[in-house]
Amino acid sequence: MEYSSREITLENGRHAVIRSAIPKDAEMLLRYLKATASETPFLLRYPDEICMTVEEERAFIQHMIESTRDLMLIAEIDGEHAGNASFSSCGSMQRTRHRCNVAIALYRKYWGIGLGRAMLKTLTEAAKENGFEQAELQVCTGNTRAIALYQELGFTICGTLPHSMKYRDGSYADEYTMVKSLLE
Ligand SMILES: CC(C)(COP(=O)(O)OP(=O)(O)OC[C@H]1O[C@@H](n2cnc3c(N)ncnc32)[C@H](O)[C@@H]1OP(=O)(O)O)[C@@H](O)C(=O)NCCC(=O)NCCS
Repeated sequence: MEYSSREITLENGRHAVIRSAIPKDAEMLLRYLKATASETPFLLRYPDEICMTVEEERAFIQHMIESTRDLMLIAEIDGEHAGNASFSSCGSMQRTRHRCNVAIALYRKYWGIGLGRAMLKTLTEAAKENGFEQAELQVCTGNTRAIALYQELGFTICGTLPHSMKYRDGSYADEYTMVKSLLE
């Protein structure tokens, strides 16, 4: 799915452009996946587990554009890639196609300036406009920044998956499932 590019003003007065990812972003996105994976323990992959080739990433972005059920957004500040947010349908069957799963990660240098809030608002509005009735996400129970933001935007905790992630040092993280109705 494509999203027409728009400029937004953040809390600190800076401007960000939010747009769809396009195939020529592939190399930039691979750099971003590796960097964000090393900046926080709350994402699914270790940096060395990001093994997609540029060609594979390009094909994935093309698939996202052609899909009527998935959207990948990129935010840029002063022409620099600041982060991504995306939604994907929870299924193609009638009983689950009203639900979408949401994900977001920003480069650390862009945390705390309202970009996450702006991107998630944009994303959930786009999901609603495209017929989704419910947005869902999983978040580590220790990710207090993300949880506070999700709650502010109307997501509520509806369950906990214990030991959802296992780290290389043998420790575990639990994850909350959070849900926001898009029906109102
Ligand atoms: C989680 C993330 C997307 C939040 O985006 P952000 O742009 O930093 O968030 P915003 O600046 O829009 O909003 C921050 C909100 O989080 C909360 N917050 C900020 N700092 C916080 C902290 N240290 N502790 C707890 N909550 C905090 C506040 O509610 C704040 O709202 P406020 O500005 O009204 O006080 C971003 O930090 C990120 O990409 N983190 C790494 C990847 C990640 O964890 N992704 C989510 C996986 S589920």
